[in-house]
Amino acid sequence: MLFLDDKAYQDTLKRQFNICVGENVFKMESLQPYRGSFAFAQPDKLGEFAQANHMRLRGHTLVWHSQNPWWLTHGHWTREEGLKIMEEHITTVMRHFKGKVYAWDVVNEAVSDAAPCDLRPDNIWFKAVGPDFVQKAFEYARRADPEAVLYYNDFGAEGASPKSDAVYKLVKDLKAKHLVDGVGWQSHFQAGWKADAGNVANAERLAKLGLQISITELDFPITMPSTAEKLAAQAESYRSMLRFCLSQPNIKAMVMWGFTDRSSWIPIFFKGQGDALIFDRDYKPKPAYFALEDVLMHSAPVHTSTKEPGREVP
Ligand code: XIL
Repeated sequence: MLFLDDKAYQDTLKRQFNICVGENVFKMESLQPYRGSFAFAQPDKLGEFAQANHMRLRGHTLVWHSQNPWWLTHGHWTREEGLKIMEEHITTVMRHFKGKVYAWDVVNEAVSDAAPCDLRPDNIWFKAVGPDFVQKAFEYARRADPEAVLYYNDFGAEGASPKSDAVYKLVKDLKAKHLVDGVGWQSHFQAGWKADAGNVANAERLAKLGLQISITELDFPITMPSTAEKLAAQAESYRSMLRFCLSQPNIKAMVMWGFTDRSSWIPIFFKGQGDALIFDRDYKPKPAYFALEDVLMHSAPVHTSTKEPGREVP
């Protein structure tokens, strides 16, 4: 694992950032590879790293259709069994990280991409438990760690779209039951992206519900090979995102999905795409880094509490 092996990686991470997130080690296939047997060694190391360097840690993710253990995906579960497994997983993991993980992506990517954007049917939790699996997950999470900030996280729901309307409806209902505190916008975009009126309207309607937002998995891939022009366009996308975040009081964090082009999921998952992050393969800052620095140097200090607005202490 790069994180453990590479001193330059760790040095850059602790010097440049104040939040970290495990890319894979908090997922269920890593955390509970065998039923009832939890593998905390790797995420604990990340927790210790975060604590030692005064960084906050996000937990990603408790309930998802992907990266689940074999035993879960290959079982035939009744609703009761599904609920029991979910409760055990959420409770054990959240209690273990209580006070160490400040926010959890309780449910990830539950909503379908295509209109009418119902819950995805190809989801083991949906199949075992039924459509209220999302609410159940948040109930268990709230109970397991009442202090944690609870997020619903998804992609393609950042701006104006049928999917963002569906996510809005989902979280509105959860918020009315005091179960959710925030919405994670994954933000896997393309270099050239700019924040638009759809993003503003979406952030504002979530703020009206009393929900906070975090950008949770930001990256701006380039169609390879990258050129100075493409890197400049990418820098403008990062600039636009940060400006947008600073302009919306309920956006509490901007978290990238990695920070060095040495290690990114993009070239593995999207053929021909790459160089999506703000440091190059040798940890040298790219134009995108300087664009972010420029925005930060020229903006007023911001309130960075993760608890307000959108957090009602039960
Ligand atoms: C990705 C990781 O980056 C990869 O290493 C892994 O093989 C697959 O998952 N949305 C999410 C993340 O919520 O968990 C995904 O992470 C990227 C898309």
